[in-house]
Amino acid sequence: MNQTIIAPSVLAADFANLQRDVEMINASQADWFHIDIMDGVFVPNISFGIPVTEAIKKHATKPLDVHLMIVQPEKYIEAFKKAGADQITVHLEACPHIHRTLAQIKEAGCKAGVVLNPGTPVSLLEDILVDCDLVLLMSVNPGFGGQKFIEKTYDKVRKLKSMITEQNLSTLIEIDGGVNLETGKKLVEAGADALVAGSFVFSSANPLQTIEALKNM
Ligand code: DX5
Ligand code: ZN
Repeated sequence: MNQTIIAPSVLAADFANLQRDVEMINASQADWFHIDIMDGVFVPNISFGIPVTEAIKKHATKPLDVHLMIVQPEKYIEAFKKAGADQITVHLEACPHIHRTLAQIKEAGCKAGVVLNPGTPVSLLEDILVDCDLVLLMSVNPGFGGQKFIEKTYDKVRKLKSMITEQNLSTLIEIDGGVNLETGKKLVEAGADALVAGSFVFSSANPLQTIEALKNM
């Protein structure tokens, strides 16, 4: 049994029964709530924002892992901290001043991470890895749940893992998109520490059991 961190994505929850779904995650073996914030500019979809994050926080008994898929995320760090974020990840592709933005997230009292789109190489993290509590690798193009896993991600995980080991860091590797038992197992073997799962959890007949299965792969 390994200790993979499991982060169900609330994007796939039933928004009309959000409290019920938050309580399901509380009662499950999941570790974090993954909160997908989309602005319709950085990604071609709009999800939800600060008030919904606050509403989730009111009932959640586990940390909120907030994934900002927005332009100029540095403008909203304080607001998401106030809304209940415990860790905040920002896209490298949206941050010309990534070093400053990560410092800002830490100053707000949150764990800080960088997200890479599928087309962005992990080698770009070389000089910023030391400042990352975690790195989130997208294994689909961000914007929608339920997409097909991009196989190239396994190579990226292995490469990133060796960069982390080489620099003697304890940065966590988190993967987002198309995670199920099959891709999840291979990701963990490649070196992933945390897995986000949206549709695989919420479309399953028994989400509690699905989370348990992911946790105990
Ligand atoms: C995609 C989001 C993901 C999404 C994953 O832009 O960042 O977190 O909810 O959904 P699944 O697990 O269905 O691929
Ligand atoms: Zn996400």
